[in-house]
Amino acid sequence: MEATPLNTGIVFYSRSGHSERLASKLSHRLNGTLIRMSAPRYSFGVFGYMRAGYDSLRQNCVLEPQSFASLAKFDQVVICGPVWTSYPATPIRALLRTDVGFPQNVALFLTSSSHSPAQKAWAVAAQDLGRSFVATAMLGNSLEGTDKGQRLIDQFLDELGAIHHPKPTG
Ligand SMILES: Cc1cc2nc3c(=O)[nH]c(=O)nc-3n(C[C@H](O)[C@H](O)[C@H](O)COP(=O)(O)O)c2cc1C
Repeated sequence: MEATPLNTGIVFYSRSGHSERLASKLSHRLNGTLIRMSAPRYSFGVFGYMRAGYDSLRQNCVLEPQSFASLAKFDQVVICGPVWTSYPATPIRALLRTDVGFPQNVALFLTSSSHSPAQKAWAVAAQDLGRSFVATAMLGNSLEGTDKGQRLIDQFLDELGAIHHPKPTG
């Protein structure tokens, strides 16, 4: 008998597109629902960038209004977003701190420009959530679209529960 596929939500925040492309790949592989997080306070050019850095350093994590009220309908949720000042980006941290009905299985996939220690960002995120993630990964921008990047994604999906979905061709 075939196993029932898990209902997976892929919640992402992306300021400049890297995490969005990653989340889109993950949603394809997991046959999941892609959910974009909104954070207009960081949208506008250099000012948005500076505010992101400032808020992150101050650990000022604000959750602006989102398109979803709860994530309780999902069997598992994958959170995807960038690293800011060595922490997960503040919208991600704000979400992890809320009572938004996370399922038991929550996984975290961060993107970075490669000079951040992954363990530190994962640990801070787990503290925000109040428990461990079922899978964690970090993809440096320079690995995007490379074989090594693909292997990182494969490893993450294996860690997440050996859910076998077709690998993209080409
Ligand atoms: C305010 C700010 C702070 C950042 N701090 C770090 C950092 O500490 N370490 C790092 O490796 N990358 C850092 N980055 C780079 C992003 O993590 C990286 O470019 C990421 O892939 C961006 O994801 P996005 O395109 O989905 O927004 C920072 C980016 C911003 C905007």
